[in-house]
Amino acid sequence: MTSLAPADAKASRVQLDFPILRKPTSRGRRLVYLDSAATSQKPQAVIDALVRYYSEYNANIHRGVYEIAELATEAFEEARAKVARFVNAAHPAEIVWTRNATEAINLVSHSWGLEHLHPGDAIVATQLEHHSNLVPWQLLAKRTGAELRFIPVDERGVHVLDNLDRLLDGAKLLALSHVSNTLGTIAPLERLVDAAHRAGALVLVDGAQSVPHFSVDVRALDLDFMAVSGHKMLGPTGIGFLYGKRTLLEAMPPFLTGGDMIRSVAYTQTDFNQIPWKFEAGTSNVADAIGLGAAIDYLNELGMDWVRAHEVRLTAYALERLVELAERGLAVYGPPGAEPRAGVISFNLGDIHAHDLASILDTDGICIRAGHHCTMPLMERMGWPATARASFYIYNTEADVDALIESLQKAAKIFKLA
Ligand code: ALA
Repeated sequence: MTSLAPADAKASRVQLDFPILRKPTSRGRRLVYLDSAATSQKPQAVIDALVRYYSEYNANIHRGVYEIAELATEAFEEARAKVARFVNAAHPAEIVWTRNATEAINLVSHSWGLEHLHPGDAIVATQLEHHSNLVPWQLLAKRTGAELRFIPVDERGVHVLDNLDRLLDGAKLLALSHVSNTLGTIAPLERLVDAAHRAGALVLVDGAQSVPHFSVDVRALDLDFMAVSGHKMLGPTGIGFLYGKRTLLEAMPPFLTGGDMIRSVAYTQTDFNQIPWKFEAGTSNVADAIGLGAAIDYLNELGMDWVRAHEVRLTAYALERLVELAERGLAVYGPPGAEPRAGVISFNLGDIHAHDLASILDTDGICIRAGHHCTMPLMERMGWPATARASFYIYNTEADVDALIESLQKAAKIFKLA
């Protein structure tokens, strides 16, 4: 048996922490999970944190004066503090719990956007955006009379910055994904944030595909807002967060209203709570916030530098091996090489529809995503009806890439490609 590279050996050990990866598929195959850009798998430590909360100290937060209510409140707020440290926010008050990145973006579009945008203003996004960072701005533009503009991308899905200053002229907001969920393109954030701020625009970053995969420092990058989903970073579904600079959040009106987001209520008048609670109406998703805190502990234990290095290495290996299928008509999309992209590879094999390809791979226990990846305008701009997409995370190994290649070879044979 050949010995594993040290990084692969660590990923193989990581795999053991994920119960779903130890369980064979219904066809008796090893599960090869290559769809972490859709949602990540969960380590036992996160599952245990949820079970512990529900079985040992389940109670509502910010209300009870009894012991388990205090334990729940403490764990919930400690999870918020863990998130704040993870992205280097100045204070936990700058972290607002939401259901996911989508809800965080909607919060900003409603609470900040409706107050600040007027006819003649512009919102600037990019041609790479996921629907979640596009549809809210389309609606906001319609409601306020603002104009929606797009930073173009080239054939590889790389940002074209030639006319950046002109595009940002009159902009109040630059809203862009840090990493493209479809192509893995990493946005040149330093340059974009600097240009946006010089133009007088705020910057909202959709960090759903970056924060799980490498260190993102909101202060070093000088981001105004960042939206993140917990379920893509080992956490449970139904929990995510908005980072916002304190002064911005303090000046914004609430998004949802009800209990817990108030300081005092009379029949005709309400004083709102301070941030972050002003934005957290109703009973919060206590268990899943605590679960996300456990996910962050797990990632910190691994080290985000290792996470990034592992994914770059694996992506490079996958890109190298995919070349073997070039003569069978495999087209790989996205930025050249493994470094300027995250661990996401979109491709098509000959004229096999991406959905058919994903179904064939599934019979071998391999999970990939196929379709438009919630980026229909990008697919149209590129002229692709659909792509197949493999995405990597901490538990993937070279053996997973080998299984992908073998299964693609099989699909090529079934469809008699070359
Ligand atoms: N945004 C997720 C994906 O890219 C669902 O698959």
